[in-house]
Amino acid sequence: MAAPNIETIVSLAKRRGFVFPSSEIYGGLGSAWDYGPLGVEISNNIKKSWWRRMVYERDDMEGLDSSIILNRLVWKYSGHEETFSDPLVDCRECKSRFRADKLMEEYRQEVLKETNTTVVYVDTIVLGGKAKRNWNPFIENKIKCPNCGKSNWTEPREFNLMFRTTIGAVADADDPTALAYLRPETAQGIFVNYLLVQQAMRRKLPFGIAQIGKSFRNEVTPGNFIFRTREFEQMEMEYFVRPGADEAAHDEWIKWCFDWYTGLGINPDNLRLYEQPKEELAHYAKRTVDIHYRFFPEREDEERQWDELMGIANRTDFDLRAHSKNLVNEEGKRLNPDSTEDLSYFDEGTKERFYPYVIEPAAGVNRSVLAVLMDAYTEKTNDKGEKRVILKLYPELAPIKVAVLPLAKNKPEIVEMAKGIKRQLQPAMRAVYDDTGGIGKLYARQDEIGTPFCVTVDHQSLEDEAVTVRDRDTWEQERVKVAELKESLQKRLGVNC
Ligand code: GAP
Repeated sequence: MAAPNIETIVSLAKRRGFVFPSSEIYGGLGSAWDYGPLGVEISNNIKKSWWRRMVYERDDMEGLDSSIILNRLVWKYSGHEETFSDPLVDCRECKSRFRADKLMEEYRQEVLKETNTTVVYVDTIVLGGKAKRNWNPFIENKIKCPNCGKSNWTEPREFNLMFRTTIGAVADADDPTALAYLRPETAQGIFVNYLLVQQAMRRKLPFGIAQIGKSFRNEVTPGNFIFRTREFEQMEMEYFVRPGADEAAHDEWIKWCFDWYTGLGINPDNLRLYEQPKEELAHYAKRTVDIHYRFFPEREDEERQWDELMGIANRTDFDLRAHSKNLVNEEGKRLNPDSTEDLSYFDEGTKERFYPYVIEPAAGVNRSVLAVLMDAYTEKTNDKGEKRVILKLYPELAPIKVAVLPLAKNKPEIVEMAKGIKRQLQPAMRAVYDDTGGIGKLYARQDEIGTPFCVTVDHQSLEDEAVTVRDRDTWEQERVKVAELKESLQKRLGVNC
């Protein structure tokens, strides 16, 4: 079983301290969410797992933490200033704003269903010798506004998704020399550091550079909880290979990523690979395969149940070339007169110089948190017929590994012993002490936040120096000597906790 919809997770997340609506006392901020005491743990655990598997357990990887605000020229030559945009369209009647491409796609699907024909409209038309997106269904008022049902549109126009800021205390808000952007992807920070990392760490191809960090996109239609927000976190890795070795490496990384998610306990039935069609590919990509998660199981149309969890792109040599100083066009003019470096690679073995190709697994931390929470969600009925929520998180991801509970909180010796056990366990694993309810309630609360084990200290414990260890998933209980408790829990939790 998984969560029946995102709403179930939204309410659990707020009630139990995983994720809160941001700035709520001032009415919130659209799509912004804050990670609470348990959310920050699960998010950190996901990042730790990714870093451990990606960086520590491989021999061909280095880590990096680059700046969020980079020189504006990075975004000029990466192509983001020119192309990182969504087309917007406004309804003249009710003043609602939409992503034109999304409405167009829905229109295409509708017509497809009605007419069973594959040619509904062409995506691009040539005007004055230049290819332009074909927005005719808007111009001809064939598409209805999802809000008011009327059909009276402005012409779709491109809206750049990068957040703008200015650098320096005296800069005017519109001073172009002070203009900078919050990064919309962590990847460019890797490309502009590629040569420094390669030389400092004496790396030979193939090798990768991994980075985890915040990215920002002024999304037109954020929503669905932490699925699409304007501030989010990415785990990205750029893997540099010899041209020609790119396709095999791409396939290997697709498998690696899929296995990483199933290794976090996500049911493979809720994951699928999605090959991006040509018209969806980003300007730099030769091929991109997304991993989709079933984020919307409640939707009747099976195709609409899926959405992107991460993407694995073959970026070719696009970025390293674009940031290099000495490439020229047909007329001999430098393509990048601003760069001071050439990012080509010299192979000592073959004495060849070339620009490496890049395979990029790019995952979202927030979407990973959401997928993990949805997938771990289960319900179970106890012998009193009450419904209980159990978050069956893999121990590695659980915010709390063990809760130590006193059976009688009015008995000082029991309380003292329970607090002492918590302190003994804490250096080795995330442990908490809780005495804020009866034992049944305390167990239920820990089940709901995914704590794999509860340790109960009772009257007998004072006599025999043993405690009861209760398993979250089976509700089975076992008596364990306090002297053996840490080792026994560590064994059951696994090495990565
Ligand atoms: N460097 C390539 C890149 O950024 P992307 O597909 O645009 O590729 C990678 O982003 C991942 O980042 C997505 O698969 C998703 O998990 C996450 N992501 C992108 N935009 C997001 C947003 N607005 N909110 C939350 N996560 C987002």
